[in-house]
Amino acid sequence: MTDPADMSKSRPSGARTARRVKGLAGTLAAPPDKSVSHRALIFSALAAGESRITGLLESDDVLATARAVAALGAEVSRDGAGAWRVSGAPWTSPAAPLDLGNSGTGVRLLMGAAARFDLEAVFTGDASLSSRPMARVLDPLAQMGVRSECADGGRLPARLFGSSRLKPIDYTPPVASAQVKSAILLAGLGAEGETIVREPHATRAHTETMAPLYGADLTVERDGASAVARVRGGAPLRAFDLDVPGDPSSAAFATAAALICADSAITLSGVMTNPARFGLYETLQEMGADLTLSPSGARAGEALVDLTVKSSMLKGVDVPPDRAPSMIDEYPILSVIAAFAEGRTVMRGLAELRAKESDRLAASAALLQANGVTIELGEDTLIVEGCGPSGPPGGGLVQTHHDHRLAMSGLVMGLGARAPVTVDDVAMIATSYPGFFDDFAALGAVFEAG
Ligand code: S3P
Repeated sequence: MTDPADMSKSRPSGARTARRVKGLAGTLAAPPDKSVSHRALIFSALAAGESRITGLLESDDVLATARAVAALGAEVSRDGAGAWRVSGAPWTSPAAPLDLGNSGTGVRLLMGAAARFDLEAVFTGDASLSSRPMARVLDPLAQMGVRSECADGGRLPARLFGSSRLKPIDYTPPVASAQVKSAILLAGLGAEGETIVREPHATRAHTETMAPLYGADLTVERDGASAVARVRGGAPLRAFDLDVPGDPSSAAFATAAALICADSAITLSGVMTNPARFGLYETLQEMGADLTLSPSGARAGEALVDLTVKSSMLKGVDVPPDRAPSMIDEYPILSVIAAFAEGRTVMRGLAELRAKESDRLAASAALLQANGVTIELGEDTLIVEGCGPSGPPGGGLVQTHHDHRLAMSGLVMGLGARAPVTVDDVAMIATSYPGFFDDFAALGAVFEAG
């Protein structure tokens, strides 16, 4: 396959400073969805025949997954920007450890997908990924018959011994996590019988939506907020051609910028509106955001909209905790937006944020405090006292803790705050949104080095 290292060469790194701008304008294609991109590579690598993927997100996280599935035995090639071909094969022991970099989705889904083959694989990651919990995936996999060895407390590096004789399980994850659910379902594709995952609060269901496209025998029953997914092992997977929809989580950054910068009007085309991913936009509408959603077809079975966003007078709201799974990645940027609202915004049910690329709850609170915003931080709550449309004082240095969403949130804060905002490093932005700087420049926002 194309060496992904070549594709990462010109990524910006180091500190950047954002200054207040007005009049952001233009139309952008929403960046391709990260969750769907990882899954497209994994399913294609498991399926017989050649799958074509168009609009693949070529971010560092997704490229790490591409490299890993190639090392596990799939044939992977790149025809041009976002256009990839993957031919699946039974997975075998990779010659070297699989380095998933910063990607929790990559490592957890691959552990599940690799579990059903008679192979031995070592999974590694960067410092952030090596501090994140893996037992949440390895424990249920152990119940299915997968042996693993890892560092103290279930951290990477982890050595996994897969098995072609997996037992199905009936599992209710103790945390709301699409990664955990997906790992079990991917392992269940090869188990002898029916594997069931029960979610009291349904998380994103991309694995469930995509698996049948590749021939898997997987069904989902939904009842209010809960969902039960069942996969029957053994169905042969076949190649499928897939066009990746736009990522609502990445689109959130330009959306936020347009809301808080005066005289702005932008359009993001092709944004996926899957309800399990759209909680931020629902919240923004409650805050009074001027959003116009025009249906614009579908990709990979996901409905899309062209989203027009205009500068808005926002008011603080109470975000219910049961909305968290549908906007779990969006709290850092929502907390920035809340700083520009009139009144207080209360966000509850955020315990999972502490297990992300950084402790995102503490880091979001620190981002706001560094820029003069009054907050209250609890174990699983964040309350933001909005500064109103004149914006927060700004002037802070944001510690990103190598977390891409903190870096982008800090830069967006600086586009609207009264004084410039500096973020300590922007290199990690490429893990999820390599086009961030080009997209923002196209809208009229340029960030200064240093
Ligand atoms: C993802 C699930 C979420 C999310 C991550 C992508 C996925 O993680 O934060 O960015 O693609 O399944 P958790 O499962 O840890 O909540």
